[in-house]
Amino acid sequence: MSDKQYVKNILCIGAGYVGGPTMTVIANFCPDYKVTVVDISRERIDRWNSDDLPIYEPGLKERVLKARGQNLFFSTDIDRGIDEADIIFVSVNTPTKTFGEGAGRAVDLQYIEKTARRIKASSKSDKIIVEKSTVPVRAAETLSKILHSGNNSVHFEILSNPEFMAEGTGIHDMENPDRVLIGSMDTPSGRAARDELIKIYERWVPREKMVTSDLWSSELSKLVSNAFLAQRISSINSISALCEVTGADVDEVARAVGKDSRIGPKFLRAGLGFGGSCFRKDILNLIYLCEHYGLQPAADFWQQVIAINDFQMQRFVHRMVAAMFNTVADKKITLFGFAFKPDTGDTRDSPAIHISKMLLKERARLWVTDPHALNNARQDLEDVEGEIVYEPDPYKAAEGAHAIALMTEWDQYRSLDYRRIFDRMEKPAFLFDGRNHLDHQALFDLGFNVYAVGKPDRTRFNNDSQ
Ligand code: NAD
Ligand code: UGA
Repeated sequence: MSDKQYVKNILCIGAGYVGGPTMTVIANFCPDYKVTVVDISRERIDRWNSDDLPIYEPGLKERVLKARGQNLFFSTDIDRGIDEADIIFVSVNTPTKTFGEGAGRAVDLQYIEKTARRIKASSKSDKIIVEKSTVPVRAAETLSKILHSGNNSVHFEILSNPEFMAEGTGIHDMENPDRVLIGSMDTPSGRAARDELIKIYERWVPREKMVTSDLWSSELSKLVSNAFLAQRISSINSISALCEVTGADVDEVARAVGKDSRIGPKFLRAGLGFGGSCFRKDILNLIYLCEHYGLQPAADFWQQVIAINDFQMQRFVHRMVAAMFNTVADKKITLFGFAFKPDTGDTRDSPAIHISKMLLKERARLWVTDPHALNNARQDLEDVEGEIVYEPDPYKAAEGAHAIALMTEWDQYRSLDYRRIFDRMEKPAFLFDGRNHLDHQALFDLGFNVYAVGKPDRTRFNNDSQ
């Protein structure tokens, strides 16, 4: 297809977990749009152009293969992409600042700002700029100031279109979204730009699922959505601590509480706490905003969601050490899973990282297994002192171990032959299920001492000495 046959040229800047999959879905549903994804990382782009995609996401590869070379392109030629584009999605990373004012809380906006400056420098025609990245409220104002600075005659219309997909179910979430949120200026050009974006989404999203709003509400809604989801996890995790000391079962409590239709059953799974690149970062961003506007009690409220998350991981390690006779020094501990959730190789802010570091401080010997995240795990722990072995085969990883600690609820961990695993472990054999994923009674019956989050211990120490 020559360029002339495309209805519009879409560019996405940032070929990461969001940029790659969102553009693949758009390219699949809009074969008459040319979709180009660019990145400063040549390695990432080369992998998007190969059979070894840079991210693992169920359903992604077949969709990339369907559109790549037809109307979906991955490139490092950012300036050319900008020049040719009618609509530019900004999907670069917005991590927490690690230096200077606001370090540890505010968003590091340098990647957004650099992108804006590059768009300005390479644009010769009017463009719609879509904020896909998660940004602080009023970031669109900053973008607009940079884009329209100097004697630039080009007009940029900025839209906010936050992404709500979750990793592991990303393709499903994008193809069947609960809502598509579009924030725009309430001006003729703002409304026209919004309608251009609606034209794309309406190829597959029912009209009633499109939510339109002003720019600032749209930007803030993204932070608030993540904060509310994380808050539910911290709420149930705080209760799991109480369950462990009172003999109640957190899954039973969540089931009973979630039956109230005003509360609902989702996001009430107690576990090791939330990981992933966004929950912590976005809550910290919200806290920073509250503090910036002098709303300290609101900031403190959200800070507590993070405090409970940290508490949950510390409690888990504390319980492991206490159960294993107050020392794990020189004991082999096998981590089942390292990804922050199943069906992704992503390990950013995974609880497994924090738990590994705490166990290594206790001088445990760690063996890590995971079906898709071992390369990332290796990078996450490369500067950490201590013995760490990465082993893809869970049976080998568990051989001779004193304990297994389940970090990620991969499906395949349910169907392992735990008799075989138990027979080859040191005795007494301990199993700590950080995601309440396994059949605890069956494991106990095999001889394991089983510890699950928010549930009473199932130990054999009172009956026999296995
Ligand atoms: P990512 O780190 O996987 O990808 C970002 C990409 O942007 C990287 O490949 C980086 O090289 C590239 N980049 C940075 N600066 C650039 C520049 N100046 N020019 C070109 N490329 C540049 O990040 P991600 O997980 O895709 O997240 C992107 C944004 O989407 C973040 O704001 C995040 O909060 C938000 N978000 C993420 C998810 C998720 O599940 N990961 C979901 C919803 C929203
Ligand atoms: C989350 C949100 O769910 C998405 O809507 C949002 O777009 C995304 O963040 C983002 O902005 O990046 P994600 O982090 O990919 O998506 O995955 P989740 O399914 O939300 O899980 C996050 C963490 O919470 C995982 O570590 C998971 O194990 C944990 N979790 C989740 C629980 O501990 N309990 C639950 O009940 C649910």
